[in-house]
Amino acid sequence: MGRHPEYDLLATGRDKMPRFTGGSCGYVPLDITNPDAISQTFVDFAPDVVINCAAMTQVDECESNREACWQVNAIAVDNLAKNCLARGTRLIQVSTDFVFDGQNGPYKEGARPNPLSYYGRSKLAGENYARGAGMDKWSIVRTVLIYGVAEGLQRSNFVWWLKDNLEAGKTVKIVTDQWRTPTYALDLAAGIEKMVRFSKQGVYHLAGRELFSVFEFAKEIAKTLDLDDSLILPADESTFTQAATRPSKSGFIILKAESELGYSPHSTRESVLEMVKEEQRIKLSP
Ligand SMILES: NC(=O)c1ccc[n+]([C@@H]2O[C@H](COP(=O)([O-])OP(=O)(O)OC[C@H]3O[C@@H](n4cnc5c(N)ncnc54)[C@H](OP(=O)(O)O)[C@@H]3O)[C@@H](O)[C@H]2O)c1
Repeated sequence: MGRHPEYDLLATGRDKMPRFTGGSCGYVPLDITNPDAISQTFVDFAPDVVINCAAMTQVDECESNREACWQVNAIAVDNLAKNCLARGTRLIQVSTDFVFDGQNGPYKEGARPNPLSYYGRSKLAGENYARGAGMDKWSIVRTVLIYGVAEGLQRSNFVWWLKDNLEAGKTVKIVTDQWRTPTYALDLAAGIEKMVRFSKQGVYHLAGRELFSVFEFAKEIAKTLDLDDSLILPADESTFTQAATRPSKSGFIILKAESELGYSPHSTRESVLEMVKEEQRIKLSP
């Protein structure tokens, strides 16, 4: 949080030790499905704001492991919200475009959710626990197809996956019939910071400004990185066998965030170039 010394930040995660090094951010291990551990963390740190990014996010696995998915994405949010209510803490719950069915995206905040997958249902339940707990101080931040770079990331993301494949000269099949407004993680973080700073309540859509098919997004990344985009082959959704149904046309209209927060996301080109620079910096840092 070098950019915001006014905040005293505590990160939590399931690992015993943090995945990042340095910086002024503290860390404690915390499994959010453990109610006692949650209560203890509230007692120990008395947070003014809780930003809940933790979730079971493997969409296909959520279909087969429904109980685990529900515990993390729904029940744990209920418990967090109850603790926030009891202590007057602001809760910012991070959610997803998968709460929508993708019939008529891009979506505004007030659009009617209709999840197609168990993951989407569980995240919508998490939203409803946050909004229905009786707090004044709740907000839901929905976002879409996140990409970015950070120290110690365990999961890759679309940009690195594509870059690795194209650099290795491998062809990749990418869907032409799913549309998204991909989101650069730093833009999302900047938007959430503004929600904290301006004490915003309610639902906000924080995403990129460009609506792409995933195929077009891949082409834009390849062009930006000067990679051979003829290796990117078009495919429709029916080519892939996946347990969970994805929304076809999701993506968000971000006008509310732009006008109320001054949210101003980078273009894909700017973000991807910044990611490459940041990756170099991380590699070179001791
Ligand atoms: N990625 C996207 O494109 C996207 C799009 C829309 C919305 N979102 C939302 O954005 C948020 C972050 O997603 P992400 O893509 O960063 O997912 P991610 O890489 O899977 O990160 C989720 C994190 O939650 C942690 N977690 C899972 N169960 C936990 C538990 N019981 N206690 C504590 N931590 C737990 C995971 O820890 P481990 O590493 O230990 O498993 C992981 O670090 C989620 O709320 C997701 O629904 C993501």
